[in-house]
Amino acid sequence: MCGIVGILGRHQVAPIILEALRRLEYRGYDSAGIATVNESRLDRRRALGKLVNLSDLLVHDPLPGKAGIGHTRWATHGAPTVANAHPHRAGRVAVVHNGIIENFRTLRAELAQVGLAHESDTDTETIALLTRYYMDQGMAPQQAAFATLDRLEGAFALAFLFQGEDDLMIGARQGSPLAVGHGEGEMYLGSDALALAPLTDRITYLEEGDRVVITRAGAQITDAQGRRANRPLTRVALDQAMVDKAGHRHFMAKEIAEQPAVLGAALGFHTSPEKTALALPEGLNFTSTDRLVLVACGTGHYAAQVAKYWFESLAGLPVETDIASEFRYRQPVLGARMSAVFISQSGETADTLAALRHVQGAVAQTVGVVNVPTSSIAREADIALPILAGPEISVASTKAFTAQLMVLLLMALKAGQDRGHLDAGAVAGHLATLQRLPGLMRAALDREGEIADLAQGLGGVNHALFLGRGPMFPLAAEAALKLKELSYIHAEGYASGELKHGPIALIDEMMPVVVLAPRDALFAKTVSNMQEVLARQGRVVLVSDRAGLAEAGPVPESLVMPQVPDLLAPFVYAVPAQLLAYHAALVRGTDVDQPRNLAKSVTVE
Ligand code: F6R
Repeated sequence: MCGIVGILGRHQVAPIILEALRRLEYRGYDSAGIATVNESRLDRRRALGKLVNLSDLLVHDPLPGKAGIGHTRWATHGAPTVANAHPHRAGRVAVVHNGIIENFRTLRAELAQVGLAHESDTDTETIALLTRYYMDQGMAPQQAAFATLDRLEGAFALAFLFQGEDDLMIGARQGSPLAVGHGEGEMYLGSDALALAPLTDRITYLEEGDRVVITRAGAQITDAQGRRANRPLTRVALDQAMVDKAGHRHFMAKEIAEQPAVLGAALGFHTSPEKTALALPEGLNFTSTDRLVLVACGTGHYAAQVAKYWFESLAGLPVETDIASEFRYRQPVLGARMSAVFISQSGETADTLAALRHVQGAVAQTVGVVNVPTSSIAREADIALPILAGPEISVASTKAFTAQLMVLLLMALKAGQDRGHLDAGAVAGHLATLQRLPGLMRAALDREGEIADLAQGLGGVNHALFLGRGPMFPLAAEAALKLKELSYIHAEGYASGELKHGPIALIDEMMPVVVLAPRDALFAKTVSNMQEVLARQGRVVLVSDRAGLAEAGPVPESLVMPQVPDLLAPFVYAVPAQLLAYHAALVRGTDVDQPRNLAKSVTVE
């Protein structure tokens, strides 16, 4: 979603805000803008498209001032245009916003009646105009901003800046995250601590409904009831090396390559020092759980679908998986013997957070499987399980997916143990198998050259299918999602056995069909389905190990993967899925880290 930053500084802020926006650009890149206060002037610069355009604009038309706000936009209301770019300004106030104001049409009509017309199609300009209206009525800036906030419905993180007020910035959080940064004689606001990383490591996270009045001397927070609130100041350790490309061409390439280390670290963190027993939080217990629901969006949902196989086979636990945006609006049957797990890299995805809130108090336990430990889902779930993937900057999720799988698998082992399906020895056996994972991931990464060659063949196609059975079925869906979002090739993931029930009609010599098939118990069946494709001149690419490729017989194209234990296949086969999409994007020349129309951390419904 949109990224927000605000600085009350000691130096010229526009270049510093620009740098901070660079670290937030993954949240949206339809347009960007900065407003500053300089002596008695409030001025702004806005540019369409990526941040580089704003940066070019500022070279020719600098923006002086030591107080400023900035924004990088993912369009919701109004097309990506300069007029719709933030900051929005009305009279003496400028505003940047992440989220959606649901009652903006009503407010807009009210403002039109008093002669305050909009210049943009956005809901954000309504906030600026309403604040202007209150200021025109004689209210002081803070009073006007607070009166405006009282009228807003929806989800937002906001920062206000006022003409003539070089030492004042107001922030508000309702449904979208906002952090306050404390510097030396400087203060900051940011959508996340990452944006503020080089400026300060001292962060206060605002809570739901909080408003903050910031001057260079500090921050005064009031809660949703208008009471003064003391929110803890935390030290955030963000190693700069974790947020740069470390010599890789793209963040995605770096994040794919990090997986062996990330998975090793996550396994180490969640197991005993000898790595023979689980070391998950005390409170996590499945003894009185007889039903589990796993809820997430996008890639997290495919991780959930893989995990369903594990919870069922290792723990005998019935599992439902659902997309958060569907789960929250149907009437899911909840109960005291049900546990609910919410999987989210960002921990801020609006639908997943709303789904969590929907079940609070109506299930035995809620568990957040998150990458950002300070996120809303981490804070609001009964138990937060960190996946420890480190900052994921590329919009397409890669290392967070396999790290989610790791934590979900460890949870499934815990459920197996709690429910008497696995004894300590069996768990230790599975953990020993998991120890092999970093090495096997490295072996899969070593196939990058061959995968890049295969991707050449995808450069000119418009459609592709991915097939898999068992846990390879959701993996096929994840592989298709990666290809779609990175290369804009239309792709679908199907259960191998389902192909003949319809999609086989799509098969012709133009249709690449990538079959993800380790040599497991279901292999022969998958091969039969593959033969059905070959018989119709489909362009099969078989991804399997040596034994599988030998057994399958001749296929037009193949990729040799390392031999893997069944439990590890979804992790290891994620690597070719990710690299195929990455290299297809390179072939087609699309924007790898920031694909069109997308944004990371989707904080609107
Ligand atoms: C796909 C992708 C998205 C996210 C989804 C959920 O590569 O990244 O599908 O998985 O938007 O995001 P989180 O995990 O932050 O809730």
